[in-house]
Amino acid sequence: MQTFEDFIEFAIKREEEAIKAYGDIAGIAKTPGLKKLLLDLQEEERNHKKLLQDITEEKVESLEIKEVDDLKISDYLVEEPPSPDMNFQDLLILAAKKEQKAVDLYSDLERKVSKKELKKLFEFLIQQEKSHKLKLEEEYEKHVLEGY
Ligand SMILES: [Fe+2]
Ligand SMILES: [Fe+2]
Repeated sequence: MQTFEDFIEFAIKREEEAIKAYGDIAGIAKTPGLKKLLLDLQEEERNHKKLLQDITEEKVESLEIKEVDDLKISDYLVEEPPSPDMNFQDLLILAAKKEQKAVDLYSDLERKVSKKELKKLFEFLIQQEKSHKLKLEEEYEKHVLEGY
């Protein structure tokens, strides 16, 4: 039987992985704009970790959940394994795919739990990770697709 704390612990580990991944990807990015976007997203993952670390029922209560669009651009693209010579386009796809995995993971967790507060917390995180994916896909749309 998994407890409230087990779910939170598990989610904190996933956020730590996301923080590290954004650090790695930002390290490869060559254009300042892309680097900044990736570091901003890393900061948001840090905030997720903090939120999870000091979560209380009152904090869950105050979370505002906004439905986020999904452009689904990266869903049909294939990601390359991370490497130092990745270009702008590859980095955006890699990051967007990671965000989709985060959305899937929080969706799984949301289905598994029955406690109302946990459901709301995971629903909030689903929309947050969707918003990250959206930012990355909008960037892709702007700089990659419009070039054709
Ligand atoms: Fe996150
Ligand atoms: Fe994210």
